[in-house]
Amino acid sequence: MGSKRALAERLHGLAGFRAPQLEFEQYPTPPDLAAHLVHLADLQGDITDRTVLDLGTGTGLLALAAACRSPNHVLGLERDPSALAVARENERSVDPARSVDWLLGDATRPPLCPCPDAPVTTLMNPPFGARTGSEGADRAFLERAAELSTVSYSIHNAGSQQFVEAFAADEGGEVTHAFRAEFEVPRLYGHHDSDRTEINVELFRIVWA
Ligand SMILES: C[S@@+](CC[C@H](N)C(=O)[O-])C[C@H]1O[C@@H](n2cnc3c(N)ncnc32)[C@H](O)[C@@H]1O
Repeated sequence: MGSKRALAERLHGLAGFRAPQLEFEQYPTPPDLAAHLVHLADLQGDITDRTVLDLGTGTGLLALAAACRSPNHVLGLERDPSALAVARENERSVDPARSVDWLLGDATRPPLCPCPDAPVTTLMNPPFGARTGSEGADRAFLERAAELSTVSYSIHNAGSQQFVEAFAADEGGEVTHAFRAEFEVPRLYGHHDSDRTEINVELFRIVWA
């Protein structure tokens, strides 16, 4: 397994969202955080020889980080075709060990079936559902992770721990790791009034029953 630093270096400088859409909550995961999450998942045995599914892959950071390790198969699912076009370009820059299958579709109704014979790890930085009209968006992503995978890693806004733990318990799952991180948001939208803002996020590893 390579180092976390080497993984982060491969993710730095990739293209971002060209025409970011606020209603889809398009915020790219900072490369260091994506590398941290995938390196932790790999240390836990959740990447090697597994199918890795990135729900709401955006420009592909989490899927590409996983593809740089030794998974069996990587899928990146995204509803915005222009983000997927950037993800494909980013794949050419990263040139990972495994190629990624990019799928256009709705992650809350994914065109995928649970596959009991191939263990699946879901990685996701879902829309937080923090905006009026999109409340509960991360719940729908967690529901799909519970259905499709045996383990998931997800990024949520600060203050989500109680909700995520209760949700996992209701589904017969368990949060095995939880940690806080800072998430740098570049200026992307009209309401952003500085070039960079740090927001607090929480990351969870959930083992699903
Ligand atoms: C916070 S961004 C994260 C992007 C990327 N995974 C990353 O880590 O940089 C959330 C992504 O989910 C996508 N998205 C939002 N709702 C979706 C849905 N229902 N189905 C598929 N993708 C969705 C957005 O377009 C966006 O690319």
